Amino acid sequence: MRRSEINKSIAEAKLLIAEYRWTLPRWAYWNVEQYKNHPDLSLYLRDHQMGWDVTDFGRGNFSKEGIILFCVRNGVQNIDNEKPYAEKLLFMKEDQVIPFHSHNIKLEDIINRGGGNLVLEFVKVDSQKNPLQEKIKVMIDGEFKTLNPYEPLILERGQSVTVERFVYHKFYAEKGTGKAMAGEVSQVNDDKKDNYFLEKVGRFADIEEDEDILHPLWNEI
Ligand SMILES: [Fe+2]
Repeated sequence: MRRSEINKSIAEAKLLIAEYRWTLPRWAYWNVEQYKNHPDLSLYLRDHQMGWDVTDFGRGNFSKEGIILFCVRNGVQNIDNEKPYAEKLLFMKEDQVIPFHSHNIKLEDIINRGGGNLVLEFVKVDSQKNPLQEKIKVMIDGEFKTLNPYEPLILERGQSVTVERFVYHKFYAEKGTGKAMAGEVSQVNDDKKDNYFLEKVGRFADIEEDEDILHPLWNEI
C-alpha cells in the first residue's frame, strides 16, 4: 500500500481518538527525527512491537481488508520478567475486514471502545484447516453465548468478547454504523509469530513510498 494511504489512515485514527477523548503516549505523535533522538526508547518500542501498525495484509485492497492498530503496551513472549499482558487500539472503516486468524499463545478480549458496531465471526477448523460444524462458546462481559460457525456477533459500544486460543476469528465494523474504535486487552502479543491466518495473507504491508512518513510504524522505528 502507499505511504500516503498509511499517513491518511493514521491521521483519521487520531481524529477518532480525540473524538472519544482518549490520548496516546507522547511518542505516538512523533516523527522519524524525534524517534531518532530517543534511541533507547525507540529500541524498547521496536522490541516490544509498540506503536503504529497499518496493514492491508499484503493484499492491496486496504478499504476492504485492512486495519490500523496502535499497541500501547506489550511484553515479549517467552521472556521472564517481561510484562505478561498487552493493550492495543484498533481502528476500522465501515465494512473493512480483518481476515480469519487465530493465536496459539495469546488469549484476548476484543472491546468496542467507541464508534460503530463491531462484528466478530468465529469458526473452528481441523488440522487441515477445514471448517468444523462445531458450535463456539464465547464469553461476553462475563456471560456465555453459544454461536454457530460464522454467526455474526454484534458488539455495541462498551461490550467485549473473549477470544479463546485456536479459535479462528474475523472482525469488521458493521456497515451503516460508522467507523469503529476497538480495544484489545490480551496476553503478550507477537505479530511476527503468533498469528495464524486461514487464508494465505501477509501480516505486514508492502509499502510504496509516495510521500514523507507522518509517523513511523513500530517496525520502522
Ligand atoms: Fe486476534
